[in-house]
Amino acid sequence: MILVTGGAGFIGSNFVHHWLGWTDEAVIVLDALTYAGNLENLAQVASDPRLTFVHGDLNDRALLDRMMARHRPRAVIHFAAESHVDRSIRGPEAFLRANVMGTFSLLEAVRTDWNGRAAEERSRFRFLHISTDEVYGSLEPGSPAFTEDSPFAPNSPYAASKAASDHWVRAYGRTYGLPVLVSHCSNNYGRYQFPEKLIPLVIHHALEGSPLPLYGDGAQIRDWLHVEDHCRALVRILEAGRVGETYNIGGLSERTNREVMETLCRTLDRLKPHPHGAHAEAIVTVPDRPGHDRRYAIDAGKIRRELGWEPEETFETGIEKTVRWYLDHPDWVAHVVSGTYRDWIRLHYGPAGAAAPAGS
Ligand code: NAD
Ligand code: DAU
Repeated sequence: MILVTGGAGFIGSNFVHHWLGWTDEAVIVLDALTYAGNLENLAQVASDPRLTFVHGDLNDRALLDRMMARHRPRAVIHFAAESHVDRSIRGPEAFLRANVMGTFSLLEAVRTDWNGRAAEERSRFRFLHISTDEVYGSLEPGSPAFTEDSPFAPNSPYAASKAASDHWVRAYGRTYGLPVLVSHCSNNYGRYQFPEKLIPLVIHHALEGSPLPLYGDGAQIRDWLHVEDHCRALVRILEAGRVGETYNIGGLSERTNREVMETLCRTLDRLKPHPHGAHAEAIVTVPDRPGHDRRYAIDAGKIRRELGWEPEETFETGIEKTVRWYLDHPDWVAHVVSGTYRDWIRLHYGPAGAAAPAGS
């Protein structure tokens, strides 16, 4: 079996669905069920006898030791993390605890168990660490995309915590021989994404009739990767990636934030028109995120050449699927936008939904 940390979050739960859909192999999920973790993301597979869910924190070392000894997974896919940049600006400590200390705790538990295994099992074992393109910092428009050799230059507390955890993973590979792999992907989108991130936030706010907050001039660029393409890439890395290597995963879909919002609004105008005009009329500019990275772009040539992976979704097909999914799942949305979610929106965007500074 494989162990998936953070499997009740956005990408982790999509990965669990993908995994159970293409193989017979069992999955054990470890997740602390923070505000971002949601068992409803796994509801469709909850009765699958191949799925075991463990509610627990990465920093609970005794629990990790018990899980490793009992289940002896052949691979660990490590998604669990605090993942929202804006939250890291307002409260960086949680990111240090989960992303750095949590990864350290997991590495120690894995190393201890792995050391006790037979040589053949040790060499087949894989630790796949899910990182981000944000560790490479910010690009100017027109400059070459990030490769696996780009230097680290993290700019937010979130990115710094991910960069730190990447270094710890690399060190465990080099020093102890743990068979590690690291992936750096661009901005994911798709079903089960918590509506604090740009795409689900815009869909949710548009359906509620709330303002659509665009940071700064809206000209920042992200590369958008459909979450199912990401899951396919991770399976390829797990199957055939070279131990000790890193792989960049991108969606070949660079868009400005304004373009993303306008595409979403046009899609909603078609699928769920607003009674009093176009959805784009609700776009409002708000003060920029402090330290806001201008552009991310991924050169995914290595994973294409070595592992034969390419994204299957275009931005347009992926957005259409995603909007339709949120429209078809009003109950999922209603449950996640609970009191805690509303507290965050009020704190971050102000009582009117679009007036407060985006920074601390
Ligand atoms: P998410 O916030 O939706 O989910 C994170 C999950 O981790 C949640 O279920 C949460 O409960 C769990 N978790 C958090 N702290 C934990 C702890 N201490 N112990 C156990 N579980 C804990 O995040 P996501 O968007 O699914 O991202 C998953 C991973 O992918 C993260 O490592 C993130 O850095 C990385 N990543 C995300 C994106 C993206 O666009 N979403 C892009 C690049 C990389
Ligand atoms: O690049 C990968 C990263 O993508 C991941 O590592 C992070 O976990 C993930 O959260 C994401 O980070 P971003 O900061 O790029 O994503 P977010 O959805 O928060 O914002 C996308 C862009 O949209 C960013 O330039 C900020 C802008 N934005 C965001 C929000 C929430 C707005 O203009 N308005 C908003 O209300």
